Amino acid sequence: MRRKLIAGNWKMNLGANDARAFVADLRKQIDPVAATLIKDRDLLVAPAMVVIPAVAQALAGSSIALGAQNMHWEDSGAFTGEVSAPMLKAFGVTHIIIGHSERRHVFLETDQFVNQKVAAALKHRLVPIMCVGETLQEREASKTVEVVMRQLENGLSGIPSEAAAAVVIAYEPVWAIGTGKTATPEQAQLVHASIREFLDDSWGKAAAAETRILYGGSVTPENIDSLLAKPDIDGALVGGASLKADSCAKIFRAGI
Ligand code: PGA
Repeated sequence: MRRKLIAGNWKMNLGANDARAFVADLRKQIDPVAATLIKDRDLLVAPAMVVIPAVAQALAGSSIALGAQNMHWEDSGAFTGEVSAPMLKAFGVTHIIIGHSERRHVFLETDQFVNQKVAAALKHRLVPIMCVGETLQEREASKTVEVVMRQLENGLSGIPSEAAAAVVIAYEPVWAIGTGKTATPEQAQLVHASIREFLDDSWGKAAAAETRILYGGSVTPENIDSLLAKPDIDGALVGGASLKADSCAKIFRAGI
């Protein structure tokens, strides 16, 4: 059985003061049921880089893990504006979102960057959450699977099957991010099943069965249950709906 992973991606929102208040509110709603939740799921919030120390403090003793939204693949060096895995680990970060569509499209991150970051995260025993997904134009041209397979093949190049359980894939159709247009659970399941098939071909059945595949794109407290009901949807990467403690808590508590 794969453990679910439900992750809040705060993007460039919530400064340190707001984040502290948010975490206090979230913990009021999650801590009392934490023992039940941790039986089958991992929970995660990913604040902006500079807010990580404040959130690390606010999360002390909670079952909610701390993630980052990006990192560089080198440990240190002349990379202005970048942050490395050891720097993040020093604050208790355990998961890294890699290759989010905003990084790919706004900051022109390539599949090769994504691949180097995934390898670096694994080397440092951080869980990479590698994002893949097609644009609206690509979907309308029936290129969804082709695009996602290319991103997987390049992003996971050289990553061995032994890493399967430590890797998380997030399928995030670009047209569903921040638009209120969620992929239907059926549309998402189809792509998730193709991703699982790709992993099966690359790593073998047992390893592919261990990799968690999250769905992201306009996930809300209202649609989370129907998404999680699908056999290959192992959790969610949530943007907008993770920015309010109430809706974040509802999504974290899905099905409970
Ligand atoms: P959204 O963002 O939930 O606001 O659509 C998801 C994401 O970009 O990870």
